[in-house]
Amino acid sequence: RFIGLDIGTSAVKAVLVDEAQAVLAEAAEPLATERPRPLWSEQHPDAWWRAVATVLDRLAALAPLAEVAAIGLSGQMHGAVLLGADLKPLRPAILWNDGRAFAEAAALNADHPGLAAIVGVPAMAGFTAPKLAWLARHEPPVRAGLKVALSPKDYLRLVLTGELATDLSDAAGTWWLDEARRDWCDAALAACGLDRSFMPRLVEGTVATGSVRAELGRRWGLPPGVIVAAGAGDTAAGAIGVGVVAEGTAVASLGTSANLLAATACYRPDPGRLVHAFCHALPGRWFQMAAMLNGASCLSWAASLVGADVATLVAEAEAAYAGPGDLVFLPYLAGERTPHDDPHARGAFFGLTAASDRRALVQAVLEGVAFTFADAVDCIAATGTPLGEIAAVGGGARSDLWMRILASVVDRPILRHRGGDKGPAFGAARLARLALTGEAPEAVCAAPPILDRMEPEPGLAAAYRPRLARFRRLYAAVREEFR
Ligand code: XUL
Repeated sequence: RFIGLDIGTSAVKAVLVDEAQAVLAEAAEPLATERPRPLWSEQHPDAWWRAVATVLDRLAALAPLAEVAAIGLSGQMHGAVLLGADLKPLRPAILWNDGRAFAEAAALNADHPGLAAIVGVPAMAGFTAPKLAWLARHEPPVRAGLKVALSPKDYLRLVLTGELATDLSDAAGTWWLDEARRDWCDAALAACGLDRSFMPRLVEGTVATGSVRAELGRRWGLPPGVIVAAGAGDTAAGAIGVGVVAEGTAVASLGTSANLLAATACYRPDPGRLVHAFCHALPGRWFQMAAMLNGASCLSWAASLVGADVATLVAEAEAAYAGPGDLVFLPYLAGERTPHDDPHARGAFFGLTAASDRRALVQAVLEGVAFTFADAVDCIAATGTPLGEIAAVGGGARSDLWMRILASVVDRPILRHRGGDKGPAFGAARLARLALTGEAPEAVCAAPPILDRMEPEPGLAAAYRPRLARFRRLYAAVREEFR
C-alpha cells in the first residue's frame, strides 16, 4: 500500500492507495494563509507539519497503515522555505501567489535576458528566485542566516526523514533549474547571490529519498523502513494522477490556483508567451504549463462573501443556467501569471445592475475563471504543442456546470477520470509505488477510467466567443488602474 501526501494551499490532503490503485481512505486538514501586507501571501512550515500529522492520524483511524511500504510527496510549487543552520524555518514561507518580489523579478529578467530559455520561463514574482533577491534587500538578517532554501513538500521530507532533497518538477519552479539538462543552473543561482551549497540534492520524482524516522512511524502504525519518494510539484503530481505524461495529453486543474498543463516529449520553452516549460516528475519527460493564480479559490471567496457554502451556490447557478450571463468577472484576486505576468491585477465585476443577484455573480465567477483557460489554451497551442481533449482535476472539477462552461469556452472536450478529484495526492502515491517497485512508469501512470466527457456545445461556444473578447478587452482597458 502507498500513501500520497499533498501540501496544498487550502489544505493538506492524504490518500491511501492499494496495489490495484484503488483509494482505500482519504483525509484532509484545512490550512490558513496569512496576508499581512498587500501582495504578501505566507504560511508557516510548522502549520504544514501540524496538518500533516493530523491528516495521518485521521488516515490511520480510517484504515490500518501497517502494510504501507512507500509514501509520495506533492506540494504547492514556488514557495520559499528558508532554513537556518539548525534546519529550522527562519520566517514563514513565502508562497506561489505572493507578489512582493515583482521588482526583483523584473531586474532578473533585465540583467539576465538569456536565462529564461534555460530555466523554462521568465522570472515572475511568485517564483522562488526573485523572493531570495527580495530577502537580500528587505530582510538582510534572514538572508545572512540562510543555510538552505526548500520547496514546501521538501520541508515535509526533511521532518519525516531527515533528508535534504527535491525532485526535478518542483525544482523546476524555483527559476534555478536548467530544465534541459535536469540539473541546477549555476548562472541562475549566481544571479541571486547563491550557489549549489544552498540547494537540496536533486533527484527524479520516482527515486526514494530516505525512510520515515522510526519514532514518527510508530505514531501512525507504519512499519519500519517506509520509504519516501521524491514526489513532485503539485501540478506535475496532478498530471501523473490522471496519466498526463505523454505528448498530446493535457490536464486542467481547478484548485486554489488554476493551470493548464500539457505533457511534452522534449524541453520546449517559449518565454515570450509566459508558458512554463518545466521538467516532469518522470525521467526524460517535460511539460508546458499556463499557470493562473485564481481557480476554485474565487468561488470560495464568493461563498465567504455572501455567507453561503460553495455547494449551495453552485447548485443555484446550475438550476438557473441558461447560457452566458451579462456580468463579466475578472478573476485576478491574487494577480495573474500566464498570460499577463501582473501581480498587481485585481478582481472586478463589470456590468452590475440592480437586478444582479448572487446567482448571477456566481455564474460570472465560473465564466471568468473559464475565460482564463481560453487564454491558457491559446498560449500553449501557439507554441506548437498539440492540444486536444483535456482532463480536469481538482475540487472545481466536481461542478458539472463549470465543466460544461469550460468545454464550450475552450472549445475542446473535457474529461473527468476516476480519482481526478483526489488531485495531486493520488499522483504522489503513484510516484511512491514507482520508487518502491521500479516498474515502467507508463504502466503505473495510465489514465484512470473515464467518468464522463463534456463535449463543447456549438451554440454555447458561439455565444461565449464575444463574451471572451469582452473579458479580454476589459482587462486590457483597466490594467493600468490596478497599479
Ligand atoms: C503553479 C502554481 C500553483 C501552485 C499551487 O505554477 O503556482 O499551481 O503550485 O499549488
